[in-house]
Amino acid sequence: MDSRISARALAAALGGWRTREPAYEALADGIRLLCLDNRLAPRTALPAERELAAFLQVSRSTVAAAYRSLRDSGHIASTRGSGSVTLPLRRRDPGRTLVSDGAIDLQQASPPAWPGLAGVMSEVAASASSLVSRVGYDVFGRIELREAIARRYCDRGVPTSPGQIIVTTGAQSAIHLLAGVLSGRGDRVLIETPTYPHAVDALRRAGTRLVGVPVTTAGGWDLDRAEQAFARTLPIMAYLMPDFQNPTGRSMSAAERATILHSAERAGTILVLDETTADLDIDRGPVPPGFLDGDPALVVRVGSLGKTVWGGLRVGWIRGETDLVRRLVAARSAQDLGTPEFEQAVAAALFPQFGAVVAQRSHVLRTGRDAVAAAVSRALPEWRAPHAQGGVSLWIELDAPLSSALVMDVRSRGLLLSAGPRFSVDGGHDRHLRIPFTASPDDLVGAVDILAEAWRRVRSGAPVAMAEQLDAVV
Ligand SMILES: Cc1ncc(COP(=O)(O)O)c(C=O)c1O
Repeated sequence: MDSRISARALAAALGGWRTREPAYEALADGIRLLCLDNRLAPRTALPAERELAAFLQVSRSTVAAAYRSLRDSGHIASTRGSGSVTLPLRRRDPGRTLVSDGAIDLQQASPPAWPGLAGVMSEVAASASSLVSRVGYDVFGRIELREAIARRYCDRGVPTSPGQIIVTTGAQSAIHLLAGVLSGRGDRVLIETPTYPHAVDALRRAGTRLVGVPVTTAGGWDLDRAEQAFARTLPIMAYLMPDFQNPTGRSMSAAERATILHSAERAGTILVLDETTADLDIDRGPVPPGFLDGDPALVVRVGSLGKTVWGGLRVGWIRGETDLVRRLVAARSAQDLGTPEFEQAVAAALFPQFGAVVAQRSHVLRTGRDAVAAAVSRALPEWRAPHAQGGVSLWIELDAPLSSALVMDVRSRGLLLSAGPRFSVDGGHDRHLRIPFTASPDDLVGAVDILAEAWRRVRSGAPVAMAEQLDAVV
């Protein structure tokens, strides 16, 4: 079924779109970016020109010219009578995506595979005959793997039995499964902003209403807002990343963990703690996991080998009370019928080496982080690049809210990034840019050079009224 976006929702998603002259090209670029990072799915019907013009407070001819530009670049098609719809993007068509071969792609923050992985895969492949003798459909997950995951929780100070674990196809499928089982249409879900965008996608798809709580690199979790949001909206669930939050890299202090647990208990909210990034420590050091002394039925943890070992492994899991695990198993078969056996066997073989895996990760991430930080302070001293003690990215503060315009500009110069608003829950974050430090230092330095050259152009191309307004905010 095709979907449609209302003028109000499109205006909210566009945020501060008026970043250059002429206005219609800035508007077209804003819509292009929404298509490129999938905030506007293909075959989405756009609002009528008159309606969008009213919401954006521009003339109808500005919207008409923007739609014309989008038609010319192949992003939308318009038919008389049924309006304009977005078109699927064709990656290789430079007219549509303006991407050249050999581009530096920093849209995803995924480190390269752990170097020992290929060897482990070969060893597991040598026992393929015993693997294929298994039934193959296992919605719980291999017992050897669940035991290994449970042991790792115990080592971290979270007592866990294998019956409390369900293995999933990556953390994303875990989030999707939890969203479907724990929440229903119209339920409120508390979520950090900025946050991991595909969690937003999964929660929205489940029909939930998201309540954003700010996290900043300087101040951490806004506890006043969090307490109010728990008390006033009584969310059914909260989706949070307590360690090396993606994209800010912040970790919750013990006090933040305690306040959030307390507020969630009072509201009867289930805390879904996404710990996909929790092992990506560079120089923070171990901290107690927290969330232990509350009602165990209210704390659910999600984990994955996607960032520690390799995204292509697609092995993740959920840790919860055994009752919840049974409910998840029952609901799962509508979504998939288990995690592939080979990948599970590889994952089980990796756990005994987990110490070496995270040590190597720490080294790779430190190198990347330091390369980005040094390059930004050299080439873009007007930006604020806060220190990240771990995780996958720097959440950089720009000196003007032109993140989307910048991302569109550098795209045509072979650099792919996600703009700040991609990580927002309810619009905003145009003053921020996520730079993942998971790529090679050469690519990262090259990326910052492209950004520095583009920034001057984008900033000077911003309308005067906006530049004045920006400077007032700085
Ligand atoms: C916070 C967070 N959760 C979940 C995921 C998805 O992980 P997986 O690749 O295991 O599905 C990611 C991947 O970027 C992530 O950053």
